[in-house]
Amino acid sequence: MQLTSRADRTATVSPVNVRPRSDRTVLVTGGAGYIGSHTAVALLEQGFEVIIVDDLSNSSARAVEVVGHLTGRNVTFIEGDLTDSTVVASVFASHPIDAVIHFAGLKAVGESVEQPLRYYRTNLLSTMNLLEAMQSNGVFDLVFSSSATVYGDPDTVPIPESAPLRTTNPYGATKLMIEDICRDVAASDPRWNISLLRYFNPVGAHPSGQLGEDPNGIPNNLVPFVMQVAVGRRDEVAVFGDDYDTPDGTGVRDYIHVVDLALGHIAALDRRGGRCEAYNLGTGNGSSVLEIIAAASAASGVEIPYRLADRRPGDIATSLADPTRANTELGWRADRALDVMLTDAWRWQSGNPNGFASDTAS
Ligand code: NAD
Ligand code: UFG
Repeated sequence: MQLTSRADRTATVSPVNVRPRSDRTVLVTGGAGYIGSHTAVALLEQGFEVIIVDDLSNSSARAVEVVGHLTGRNVTFIEGDLTDSTVVASVFASHPIDAVIHFAGLKAVGESVEQPLRYYRTNLLSTMNLLEAMQSNGVFDLVFSSSATVYGDPDTVPIPESAPLRTTNPYGATKLMIEDICRDVAASDPRWNISLLRYFNPVGAHPSGQLGEDPNGIPNNLVPFVMQVAVGRRDEVAVFGDDYDTPDGTGVRDYIHVVDLALGHIAALDRRGGRCEAYNLGTGNGSSVLEIIAAASAASGVEIPYRLADRRPGDIATSLADPTRANTELGWRADRALDVMLTDAWRWQSGNPNGFASDTAS
């Protein structure tokens, strides 16, 4: 994994003000993780140079190797902790960087309630270090992983970007605070171009079956849990509540294929004109827990056992994106259907029952 030097890149003629992708190097923080690795593949396939920084606290270096294999491209990988400002400064000092996509951070809601200081420290300090290094190195293009969690329990669905922002847990608070920091930074200098991407529920895997979600321990999220039941690692799915105000009583979410999500980041990188803008990345379509279990059974050919259980504290009935703004302003649309999401998730899970540590029992 090595970066091709700038001088080695082929020069191409480009329209005025649009630099060729082969001449743009994107720093992908958290690029060994689930969404970051899929985005690195999409970036490399579209000709960008990619540098990944990740401390591997929730991922495997194997994912970075797979990114290289799938694309046949070199990827520079730096193992490092972004909460250390000297690490961040050295990344910028030693590599030419044109834009940053910032995925790195901690993401488990329940864990954030138990360990709030760890969440505030990791998510806020990493972002502060990154923004300071970007500013001092004259890099002003940033795409940030925000979350639908910033809408809390929404008053109405589908949720537009203009909906009130609020949250109920420390993880969500870090996302809201980082959004605020980005808005303030962008207001201070017109050179900033920041896209805050509010993801709904990312699921699925790369269609090759070689790259996918590999959660540590017991999965918190529905689709990885369902897949581990289908592959025989767990006995049954607990359906958290069947008394919500939804068509079948179970929670409804806007599931989006991780490859569609990855492409949303490239659309955001190409965006020009606004200093700091937020975009919902979702499909606008909702699926209930029981619909997911049925679709996963169909995709895997395995009848997935489940039992009805109590509601999970903090869960909401329905979360659905209004993706109109991303559709119109970014020219992006999530078009992979639910059966594709679950078929791709199953290809990954069945081919790699224990994730990247495929020969390690868990
Ligand atoms: P992930 O855990 O797979 O990826 C995050 C990566 O960041 C991991 O590889 C981890 O090792 C790395 N990391 C963590 N702390 C670091 C640090 N201090 N320095 C360097 N690297 C560090 O998670 P993901 O699902 O790919 O999520 C990526 C981003 O998207 C996160 O910011 C998350 O909050 C956000 N997000 C995810 C979801 C989701 O459902 N997956 C939904 C909304 C938003
Ligand atoms: N669910 C179950 N059983 C499980 C896991 C989940 O029934 O074992 C249900 C939940 O109650 C919910 C639905 O499946 O109705 C989806 O749950 P997930 O945990 O997959 O996703 P959430 O919508 O709860 O959480 C996601 C992200 C969070 C983010 C939140 C709000 O994982 O990081 O969306 O945007 F904060």
